[in-house]
Amino acid sequence: MLTIRGLHAGYGKLHVLFGIDVEVPSGGITVVVGPNGAGKTTLLSTIMGTATAFQGEVLFEGIPITGLPPHEVARHGISYVPQMKNVFADLSVLENLQMAGYMLPRDETQAKASQMLDMFPVLRRFVHRKAGTLSGGERRMLAIAMGLMKKPKLMLLDELSTDLAPIVAKKVITEVARLRNELGMTILLVEQMAKRALEIGDTAYLLVSGEIRFAGGARDLLHDPELARLYLGVKEA
Ligand SMILES: Nc1ncnc2c1ncn2[C@@H]1O[C@H](COP(=O)(O)OP(=O)(O)O)[C@@H](O)[C@H]1O
Ligand SMILES: [Mg+2]
Repeated sequence: MLTIRGLHAGYGKLHVLFGIDVEVPSGGITVVVGPNGAGKTTLLSTIMGTATAFQGEVLFEGIPITGLPPHEVARHGISYVPQMKNVFADLSVLENLQMAGYMLPRDETQAKASQMLDMFPVLRRFVHRKAGTLSGGERRMLAIAMGLMKKPKLMLLDELSTDLAPIVAKKVITEVARLRNELGMTILLVEQMAKRALEIGDTAYLLVSGEIRFAGGARDLLHDPELARLYLGVKEA
């Protein structure tokens, strides 16, 4: 569904990604793991058009989208859930969902919002609460639901586990598996908390210092003792 070829990217004169090749197949979860500062967010930002592609190309369903502005990338059917600031703290859960669906016709927005509340019962419970009063995990569910409001073909998820207690992070990541299993959603997930992400992932890439060091099956990366120990902080348990 998404093909990234020979991508060099960064910000201004800062070169962050060096010749990245990534393939995101339809209907699966592709995981990009790597240490802090490796360039994971930059990869997603380059797809969305907020970081600069210096060289190489990004193809979505065979169509070049390299360097398009974010609203045009979104219009192709790509939804981005950022790592931080992904909900409006002063708006209620329902208002957040409505905001996220602003480009849909009015009645469709309502239908889609109520579908999201069915899918995430915890959000229905707090539907009139301000998003800023939700727990970290609940807020992350809301951010995912907001991404889904746009009826995307592809979702880009940035570090869903950031700042969450491990048990909550696990829950959120399990929800991502549900998006694939129940909705057939195609997902590109970047994560520092590698173990959980690789457990639900299909294809995996290891990104270190702006270069891909591993490409293959998620389980193969998880069980590669050397890479796991060096980069992922994974202890076999
Ligand atoms: N908006 C930005 N402007 C300039 N440099 C940035 C920006 N965002 C990230 N960087 C730099 O790009 C490099 C990779 O960062 P990032 O993509 O956020 O890594 P990761 O998400 O893997 O932790 C870092 O050196 C970081 O300082
Ligand atoms: Mg990041």
